[in-house]
Amino acid sequence: MYRLPLRVLAAGILSTPLLSLAAELPYRDPALPVEQRVSDLLSRMTLDEKLGQMLMGARDWVGPEQMKKLNMGTLLSGGGSVPRPNTVNGWVAMMKGYQDAARSTRLGIPVLYGIDSTHGFAHLPGATVFPQLVGMAATRDEALVRRAGEITAREMSAAALYWTFGPMVSVVDDIRWGRSYEAFGENTELVSRLGAAFTEGFQGGLKVYGPKAVRPIATAKHFIGDGGVAFGSSDFAMAGGRSKLDRGDTRGDNAALLARHLPPYKAQVDAGVRSVMASFSSWNGTPMHANPHLLNDVLRKQLGFTGLIVSDWEAVQLLPGSFDTQVATATNAGIDVLMEPQKTAEVLAALRKGVTDKLIPQQRIDQAVSNILRVKFEMGLFEHAGPVEAAQAGVGSAEHRQVARELVRKSLVLLKNDAALPLKRKQHILVAGEHADDLGLQSGGWTLEWQGFFDNNTRLPGATTIIDGLSNVGGASTKIDFDPNGQFAKKVASAASPADVAIVAVGERPYSEWLGDRSAAELSLSADDLALIARMRPLARKLVLVLVSGRPLILGDALKKSDAVVAAWLPGSEGAGVADVLFGDAPFTGKLPYAWPKDAASFKAASAPADERRASLLFEVGYGLAK
Ligand code: GLC
Repeated sequence: MYRLPLRVLAAGILSTPLLSLAAELPYRDPALPVEQRVSDLLSRMTLDEKLGQMLMGARDWVGPEQMKKLNMGTLLSGGGSVPRPNTVNGWVAMMKGYQDAARSTRLGIPVLYGIDSTHGFAHLPGATVFPQLVGMAATRDEALVRRAGEITAREMSAAALYWTFGPMVSVVDDIRWGRSYEAFGENTELVSRLGAAFTEGFQGGLKVYGPKAVRPIATAKHFIGDGGVAFGSSDFAMAGGRSKLDRGDTRGDNAALLARHLPPYKAQVDAGVRSVMASFSSWNGTPMHANPHLLNDVLRKQLGFTGLIVSDWEAVQLLPGSFDTQVATATNAGIDVLMEPQKTAEVLAALRKGVTDKLIPQQRIDQAVSNILRVKFEMGLFEHAGPVEAAQAGVGSAEHRQVARELVRKSLVLLKNDAALPLKRKQHILVAGEHADDLGLQSGGWTLEWQGFFDNNTRLPGATTIIDGLSNVGGASTKIDFDPNGQFAKKVASAASPADVAIVAVGERPYSEWLGDRSAAELSLSADDLALIARMRPLARKLVLVLVSGRPLILGDALKKSDAVVAAWLPGSEGAGVADVLFGDAPFTGKLPYAWPKDAASFKAASAPADERRASLLFEVGYGLAK
């Protein structure tokens, strides 16, 4: 037999039409219907290969080899978990390592990697960091929120990342919850509308790169009722803080609770969301991770959700019983992917035991794996798991930052204005408060780090603080003096010779999850903030209070001491957008996504009787002055 040179033989094999390869392995043929690919692949999988797809390890504990050994289907970055170097190329290299290992498994199923890009790809220095969702909510602008979703997907795709754990579509009943800034507010209809816009934007964001690009997936979270938990129904201490609401119990008439908390998930399913994250919280005493009625009868059957359901971080371990029992309970309740970042081998063993002992029906395993495979096929992950090279130039680009800056402008809510705003060029303006010059304070949690960051403005290249904006927008003709502590020499300003305007920027320090749970009293401006306002009051004819926070704060007498009050929320990387509005280059259009409490003593959650709630408020939901 004439022996062809190896390179010719190899060329022949490589040129084998995909069709003949696909004929042997239909699941590899992108031309086939997704359900046909799912059933073909499922039919080829061993039990361990199926169970491996249901595992979710974290990059901190699971490298490519371990992932391959367990045939692991998904991975994640927990908050702040990033490759070194934390650059686009660093992420691309990390993902290549994982995908190469996944492809080298017997069936070559690509791995799906998730990350909390809740307000932009905010784990990456230099990426566009959008206002937190509370600020996006104040804009009420679906088109802009959709753009934010698109841009988030595009900047992630440069790093070969295609799954975000967001939007959080919680309807927040009580702003004492530490996750209020991560949500679109307390109004069900607004949360539904803006959540759907983000998901449509994110999942459609890569169409611009043509049919070969991956179709990224968003995650509607946390199903269901996490925003409606009762104050004090949660009490655990972890990572140096004690919860008051986070992971608590949502209590009340079932129909009323569903009417308040379910519509955002219907809007998500209608928008085509492909993953849902179960909530740590409970629903009238039943943990959501052990709630087959809400996960299956309501989410899957009533709403028609056909994507994958992922558990929250080690939430399975909060269920009753042994670890094996917890895994079986969550799996049988409808969880497809088990986010047990460190205990992947143990989850595999527990699943295998559950099937062997007939605690977990094989049919449930096949359904879970089908949901996972369906999403991976739909995304095009088998064909295009690599980075989108064309997206790299867009990371943190001027165009993307302009969209973020527009969101910042539209997010500002004017609560009071006694002829103090807009600022005028040529004025002498004093600026005080650390929140005027700190990228970490203006970005909040889930930015670079799980709990946010404090960095002396060194870790978000390309970003602008509020004072940067005031200087740039005010221009050379405007005299601006800044001191975070409000300490100004007499020659700069004094009661005898006051400046035109003092801007005092105060607010919250970053937090995430239960570490942001507060009592009503703790929502009050701090004594230091009040002292700063008092110190600045005589130094300027007008005093403008700018609040940089994830939620309304109790103002006390700061309200009457200020001539103007502006809620700026957590603007993210484009702090200059605040200055655009303060100088009148853009109008005030923002409206409150949360009602504003009057004081701690009368504080009422949104679900309190309407007249009691109204009596407890300084400003209603939807309030916002135009000038
Ligand atoms: C956290 C959060 C969830 C996040 C997940 C992964 O505990 O509850 O919102 O997506 O873990 O970081």
